[in-house]
Amino acid sequence: MLVTSALPYANGPIHLGHLVEYIQTDIWVRFQKLRGHDCLYVCADDAHGTPIMLRAQQEGITPEQLIEAVGQEHRTDFSDFNIGFDNYHSTHSPENRELAELVYRRHRDAGHITTRTITQAYDAEKDMFLPDRFIKGECPRCGAADQYGDSCEVCGATYSPTELRNPVSVISGSTPVERDSLHYFFKLADFETLLREWTTAGHVQEEVTNKLNEWFEAGLREWDISRDAPYFGFRIPETDDKYFYVWMDAPIGYMASFRNLCDRTDLNFDEWWDKGSDTELYHFIGKDIIYFHTLFWPAMLAGAGFRTPTAVFAHGFLTVDGQKMSKSRGTFIKARTYLDHLNPEYLRYYFAAKLGSGIDDIDLNLADFQQRVNSDLVGKVVNIASRCAGFINKQFDGELSATCSEPDLYDEFIAAGNAIAADYDAREFGHALRKIMALADRANQYIDANKPWVLAKQEGNQDAVQDICSTGINLFRVLATWLQPVLPAMVSDVEALLNIPPMTWDAINTPLTAHKINKFRPLMTRVEQEKINNMLEDSRENLASAETAEQAAGPLQDEPIAETISFDDFAKLDLRIARIKKAELVEGADKLLRLTLDLGGETRNVFAGIKSAYSPESLEGKLTVMVANLAPRKMRFGVSEGMVLAAGPGGAELWILNPDEGAQPGMRVK
Ligand code: MSP
Ligand code: ZN
Repeated sequence: MLVTSALPYANGPIHLGHLVEYIQTDIWVRFQKLRGHDCLYVCADDAHGTPIMLRAQQEGITPEQLIEAVGQEHRTDFSDFNIGFDNYHSTHSPENRELAELVYRRHRDAGHITTRTITQAYDAEKDMFLPDRFIKGECPRCGAADQYGDSCEVCGATYSPTELRNPVSVISGSTPVERDSLHYFFKLADFETLLREWTTAGHVQEEVTNKLNEWFEAGLREWDISRDAPYFGFRIPETDDKYFYVWMDAPIGYMASFRNLCDRTDLNFDEWWDKGSDTELYHFIGKDIIYFHTLFWPAMLAGAGFRTPTAVFAHGFLTVDGQKMSKSRGTFIKARTYLDHLNPEYLRYYFAAKLGSGIDDIDLNLADFQQRVNSDLVGKVVNIASRCAGFINKQFDGELSATCSEPDLYDEFIAAGNAIAADYDAREFGHALRKIMALADRANQYIDANKPWVLAKQEGNQDAVQDICSTGINLFRVLATWLQPVLPAMVSDVEALLNIPPMTWDAINTPLTAHKINKFRPLMTRVEQEKINNMLEDSRENLASAETAEQAAGPLQDEPIAETISFDDFAKLDLRIARIKKAELVEGADKLLRLTLDLGGETRNVFAGIKSAYSPESLEGKLTVMVANLAPRKMRFGVSEGMVLAAGPGGAELWILNPDEGAQPGMRVK
């Protein structure tokens, strides 16, 4: 089995939304390996495209330097979340260039590529064609300002960038002009019969079949696979200045990563990719990229003489506390920010508990996250070991009983294994965990009913204590085996505790008897509220830098006008003129300055995330505006007693409000 996750773009950090996918895939792969299957998991960075080229320019480095640095960060993030790739590569690699050219040439020679001239928006100042997302203007339907070149966020209209009113290039600010150029197209409709067959033969989920039917109804349009220079990507063979569109060589990156692995091992590439291969190929993806993976990709593979995927598994999107991840709410949480505060296995467990085989969105509810991890993992599972191992360690020199005293109970556990395996295999991780937790309850009830801690204090009950605790340890071992795909790090500590080789699904058929275990050490600690708070706070602090990374920054970017409020709501805000008496750096904080604000008789201590835009000296003595009746907030560095008002996308582009001299500190702003 060859398994992939979608290739993350190399222009930004991994965030918790991405991790839904990498954790889902990793659990499935670990499960297959635990069952003894020959399973390989490959991935890569998706390193090409306009946003990466522009971001590198912005940072004054080459695209190669950018993708190298981001690639390193991605690898570390993944490895710290225990994502066990067998190979992690890049689409900007010799293997990928070779394969992309091969796939292209085979299609071209078979007549599946056509060319024609199209008219597009062009930035004459920057000398480049503008992708839709790099043009903004007024919506041709409703007139809303500041809309992207492809669709209006206000009225939902979709259109072509040439229809926008008063368009501007987001890159240079100039007015785009129209310009012609020759483009290369992939004739997707040539593959309609093949695709209709493939998509109805059990390779995709039911919800996806419905979407596909809509797309077939609408007709399979030719796909533009070329981009003009300047572009960061691979040049199309036999052209001077045409490049493969990033989405053309990205999925080929799956093959390239595997080829790279083959070149370092004795795996045979053709055995896995040739038409008629008897290996299996699975792609895990998010629901936003279904079209690419269920239409373009199988067609590209088949037309170039390669095998098609065994299945494409799509998942839904992550929301945090019921809403889209938001930078301003602090719920746009980077993998690294999470890792700075919390154990990765908490999140693996929580996502697993929420994941099913469908494409519904999944919600990270932080209160539920804390409650569930604490009650299931710490309160139920680890509790079994901590209640039993101590007695075995202390009273029996670590030795488990010579026979299993509860064969029926043990068999009842083992009997549940097949159903749990079926759930994992069908990606119904939530169902699997519910079954496992019901049995954890059962194990705890057994211990509660037999009270080894009472027996241990009485004479002559030594054998019973050893038997009960040995049974507890054996039941715990069964549960830990089933949890291994979800909690690989904790389970590796369990292997050390139990003094056993790496677990396999079938090893638990026989309980451990007359076997010596090691000293118990805590396997997992509780999720603390404070750590969650700190993580959210750091995510808000990260706001400024995260937003400069955003490619298409503009005044109203990400921030449509908020819901209308009543005058009464407005009147609740007590905005005051304040004079910045002192501004200081805060040790250990990347984004914060500590401001001492004079409100005309009262002073306030406020932490403001404006360090990226202002030096402390430049602020002292200035007038500004603050929210004076905001509830104080305890931060890591102290209590913040209000907020100052500022505007801007972030980074150096942040401006505090600065009233003219004459306004007096303490005056209310109305
Ligand atoms: N580079 C393309 C994929 C190319 S595959 C040949 C891409 N990259 S991405 O970085 O935007 O996303 C990588 C994967 O993460 C995608 O499958 C995407 O659906 C998934 N997710 C990104 N944000 C997500 C959420 N907020 N929630 C769940 N999955 C999300 O697309
Ligand atoms: Zn509109």
